[in-house]
Parts: sequence; structure tokens; C-alpha cells
Amino acid sequence: MPIQVYENKTFLLNTEKTSYVFKIDKNGILNHLYWGRKIDEIKDFEDSEIHRENSYHACIDKTMEECSSFGMMRYKETSIKLRYSDGVGDFRYQVTGYEVNNNCLLVTLKDIFYPFQVTLFYEVFEKENIIKRYRKAENLGESDIVLERFYSAEYGIPGTSYELINFNGTWGAEFKRYSDKINAGKKVYESLRGSTAHVANPCFMIHKDAEEDRGEVYYGALEYSGNFKIVAEATPYEYLNVLIGVSDTDFSWVLKSGDCFETPAVYCGYSGSGFAEMSHTMHRFCLEELAPKAFAEKPLRVLYNSWYATLFDVRFEEQVKLAKKAAGIGAELFVIDDGWFGNRNSDFSSLGDWYVSKVKFPEGLNPLIEEVNKLNMGFGIWIEPEMVNEDSNLYREHPDWVYQYPNRTILKGRNQYALNLTKEEVVQFMIQFIDVLLTEYKIDYIKWDMNRPVGETSVCGETPEERKEVWVKHTRNFYRVINECRKRHPEVEFEACASGGGRVDLGAMRYFDEYWPSDNVDALDRLEIQESYSYIYPAKYMRAWITDTPDGLTNRKIPVTFAMRSAMCGSLGIGNNLNTISNQEAEEIKKQVAVYKKIRNIVQFGKLYRLKSLTKDEFHAVQYQKDGSGIVFSFLINGRYGKEHYNLKFKGLCNESNYRISANETVYEKSGAYLMYHGLDIVLKGDYDSQMIEIIKDR
Ligand code: GLA
Repeated sequence: MPIQVYENKTFLLNTEKTSYVFKIDKNGILNHLYWGRKIDEIKDFEDSEIHRENSYHACIDKTMEECSSFGMMRYKETSIKLRYSDGVGDFRYQVTGYEVNNNCLLVTLKDIFYPFQVTLFYEVFEKENIIKRYRKAENLGESDIVLERFYSAEYGIPGTSYELINFNGTWGAEFKRYSDKINAGKKVYESLRGSTAHVANPCFMIHKDAEEDRGEVYYGALEYSGNFKIVAEATPYEYLNVLIGVSDTDFSWVLKSGDCFETPAVYCGYSGSGFAEMSHTMHRFCLEELAPKAFAEKPLRVLYNSWYATLFDVRFEEQVKLAKKAAGIGAELFVIDDGWFGNRNSDFSSLGDWYVSKVKFPEGLNPLIEEVNKLNMGFGIWIEPEMVNEDSNLYREHPDWVYQYPNRTILKGRNQYALNLTKEEVVQFMIQFIDVLLTEYKIDYIKWDMNRPVGETSVCGETPEERKEVWVKHTRNFYRVINECRKRHPEVEFEACASGGGRVDLGAMRYFDEYWPSDNVDALDRLEIQESYSYIYPAKYMRAWITDTPDGLTNRKIPVTFAMRSAMCGSLGIGNNLNTISNQEAEEIKKQVAVYKKIRNIVQFGKLYRLKSLTKDEFHAVQYQKDGSGIVFSFLINGRYGKEHYNLKFKGLCNESNYRISANETVYEKSGAYLMYHGLDIVLKGDYDSQMIEIIKDR
């Protein structure tokens, strides 16, 4: 049974491998008791209450809670901070009821003195080993109540010296992974940019010296693409207090009589055997439960995008030439990126003018689409719906549609303004123009970009409190727009991009079929970006391209086979200028595209094992395993002192089964046990050598 309740006060949430337990303690508080490997016997928790006694500190601050409120002599980071109309600022609750419905539990907490109620929702995904959590706050009275903080979930993890993994990224350098020990105080990861942003990711991974296949990891990821916050606080009472949800910075929400506020959900899990199990659980969960159904079970097509080939200079003849070559190397989708609309010749103009440029496409887009379709490819375009340039008809007509302060110069990022999505007319404009494009043209794919953060929001709204609602309303309306577009055009594939990886999160995953993890397409840097990305997010959701060498960002020259294999670790894309690359390069790309098509089911849907990491090993290797078939990519960056033999241990095989391994045109027959425990000796030589190894289980 996924949910058990003992004597109306102890709650046990069981997945196949894990348990999560809390109870109503003697003080009426929801006291968190346990999160870890499965313990089936709920009665074992009968007399367990965790209180750390100490004369100065309030007992409540020492209790690991399911939903703590600021006030009442609590001084730790709390889940809720609110203000009633008379100024009282704590939520002193009583558990007034609970409901169990199959795999869902909801517990209601009602203030003892005020008509205010919080409902905690838990949904147990038994088979997937994931628990979904979110909360709802409700004003049951007449007077306004102001929420100043309301996280999605709070976790207590007993013990000290935990490490928190998250990222410290920037444009072109997303997913730089850090594991920081928290001995004292708080570690905070937050985005205040109105989007997920590159700096951090709305997820947490907590461990003590865990490795790929060893150690305990507590993890969670937020289904939200706006301002978020993660706080991990090492309390002096020997537990780590972890909170995740909408950021409380510049946030408040006015609950008028009868109003509710529901938080985004967080999906969390526990792995008793390291990071690999965490990633497998999350990847499977994402593909099965979150990803839009239209493309969730289909392998993604190999796309060609002409951005790096032509930048803004997209013209009909040139694009047709590229399309023919793209089809020749095996692309299945042809995408024109920025530059096809308005007078868009640079990033200084035309965002907002979403009609086809008459200069670049005198006959409209249809002749190009027809050519592309004749070549058996789908057709896609780039849009950036949330933005507008000062030099655009849209801005000239609606200067009041952008976030701005009345008495100051409006700030620009990448020469553009952010549209005020809290205005209904802006939302309708966005839905309308996307709908018109998708109705008028046979468009199979959209790359949805967002190239600057949001700012200057604090004058939108009537009251000071309402002005702090903007960030959440903005994100909710972004979801409304994309949701409506998908509803109207369910056959179209959508990719999320935000100057690279600024919108990689489970909230966007509900609406997008894939993400663009970084504008950094250097095949070496990408290996590290892709590795960190894979901790939580599945390979299928990661577009990975090969582009021309030397790379525009790093100036690094990387051989085409290495670069192709780096890109084949995700959903493959090609971004080379096919008009200028050598025949030899084009032939190699074509050959590898054909290989990729044969293996993409394994890469996109298989279990991903991080075998070797450049952060600590001599070379990089990643394995994808689906049933008996596997693919391993290995990459040597810098061969030293003539060394050419490296041992590589595979994972996820059956000890007793026999496997045929094909590596470098040599075929080996080995047992699973040999391959996993002894390993295969592979040859990698010199700089930028790489190898693709195929694993086939003998029937
Ligand atoms: C952003 C994206 C790029 C490209 C450009 C186009 O930088 O991340 O991939 O689409 O915009 O202007």
C-alpha cells in the first residue's frame, strides 16, 4: 500500500524502494520522522518523535517539520510567512483532517485563531520511486491575508556535514556543478530573473560523499520556470533543513476572501545507492509522467539549424541550398533560426514583428517549406515571443506593453525589452501570433527562445503587495500561452531555449519536448555541461549539435568524429555551415548521422550511466543501456606519454549473460560479469580521440 495511516496520526508514504514518514506529535506539529530505504511496518514509528532538548531554544525550532511557519519562536528558515489583516504574523495550526485517495494524501492544517487553511498534498508514484509534493493556502474568512513566503516543500534530513549539489552557471557555461559542504548556516540557490536562468537550477541533491553507485542521495526538482529558491540550512540541532519553492524575494500574494494560492509541485526521491540510481529514477519519471505526450514516446528527429551558418542573413536561395545539403547528410527537420521576420538583420530590431520578411522571402515562407518537405524534412522556425525591440512596429504601437518605470530609461538586455505578461492583451497577442503562424504555414517545430531576464516589474499592480505578485503571474501566464499553443497545435514539436540553458526545469518540461542546454557548442565543454545536465534531466531532452570548428566561442579545433559523438550523446542536431565545410567533413557527418539513427532509441530512452568523468578521470565515458542493447561513447582529450590502453568497466548488464561488443571494428564476446568487473581494455590515442562501442546481448 503506498499510503498508510496509523492511529490517525502517523503517515507512511511508500514507494517500491523508499519510505517517507511523519506524524502529528504531542504538540500537534507535523513532525518529520524518516526519509530513506523502505520500512514497511508503520507501527515501528509509534513511539518515535524527534525532539532535541536544550534549555534556551524553543522545542519547535528543533523539530524537523513538514510545514513550518515563521513566528512562534521559530528562527530557522520556514515554509510559510504570512500576515493577517490585524498584523499577526504566524500560522498556529491544528491538523484538522486528512484524506487518502489511492496514492494521494492530503493533510489540512487550520489556524487555531484565524480563518486560514493550508493543505499539504503528497502523491506517491510507487513504481517510479518519486513523491510529488505541493501546497495550497486558502483564505476562509472575510479580511485579506498576505502570503509573504510559501515554499512547495520542506524536508528535514537528520545528521550533519551534508553536501548540496547545484550549479553555478552563466551564459555559455551552464551546469557548472558544485558540491558544497554545509557545516553551518544557510546555502541558498535562487533565481530572481523571472525565469529559471543559467545561474542555478531549481533542484537539490543532498548527500555525504556519495558516488555514482554508492551512498545516500536525497533529491528533488521543482516544476517551475520562474523565480525560485532553495535553502539548505545546517541547523545547530543536527539536521539539515531543506526548502524549495517560489522565491520569497520581492514576492507576496494577497489572498482575498475565498482565494487560494497553490504552489508549484516538487518531485522528490531518495537513492540508497548513489547518483546513478537518482538519475535513472528522474529520467524515467520525466519521460513517463511529465513530458508532453505527443512526443514522449517518439524518438526526436535529427535536426539541422542554419543559425551558425547564416546568422541573421537568412535568404530564400541560401536556405534552399542548405536544406538540400542538410537532407543529403540525413537531417529530418530543417530549422531557420533568428532573422526570418520583420526587418531583423541584427538583434537591434524587429522582435515583436512576427511576420515573414518580404525582403528575405519575397514569396513568403511557403516556397521554402515546400522545398524542405520535398526533401522529406519537417520545417521549423525560431521565435522569441516574450520580447520586443524598441525598433519594432509592436513597440511603436504598444509602448506600454513592456515592463518599465515611468520616470526612467527602460533597461535593455540584448537590445530588447521584456513584455509585461501580466497584461491580458499581451498574453492574447502572443497566443494569436503563434496561432496565426502555425495555422498559416506548415510548421512542424518551434524553437522558443528567451534572451534576457525580466526586470522593472515593481510598478505593475494597484497596491504594494499586488506589485509583488508580478513574478508569479508572469510565469503562470507564460505557461498559459504555451499551453494554449500546444492545445491548438498538438502536432508541433517545441524546444525551449533561453540564451542556451536558461529554461531547463520540470515546469518547462510539461510544455516542451526538448531543451537547448547551452549556446556553448564546443564539443569538449559540452561533455561537462551534458554530464551535469544528466544528473536530473534525460538525454532525450537535451539537444546537442555539432557545429563548425574552430568553435566560435572557444576557438578550439576539434575533429569532426569526436564532435559528432559528443553531440550523439543527446538528441542530435547539426549546425555546421554545410556550404563551406569540406566534403570529407560532410561525409563523416553523414556517416555518423546514419549511425545515430540506428542507436537513438538507446540514447534517448535508455538508462544513462556516467562511467568516466573529466572532472576526475583521464577520459570521459557514458553508457546508454536499453534492455540488452547498449552504446558507450568514450572520449580522450589529451593523450599523454604514449599511453593508449584504458580500462573501461560497463554497468547495468546481467552477470551471466553473454554480450557481443563491437569496438573499433573488432568484435568481442564477453560475459556481463567480465565487462562490469574486469572491464574492457579500450584503445584511445592522442588528442581528441573517441570511440563508440556497441553492446548486444546474445539471445
Ligand atoms: C539565442 C539562442 C541561440 C540563437 C540566438 C538567435 O542566443 O540561444 O541559439 O537562437 O538566440 O538570436
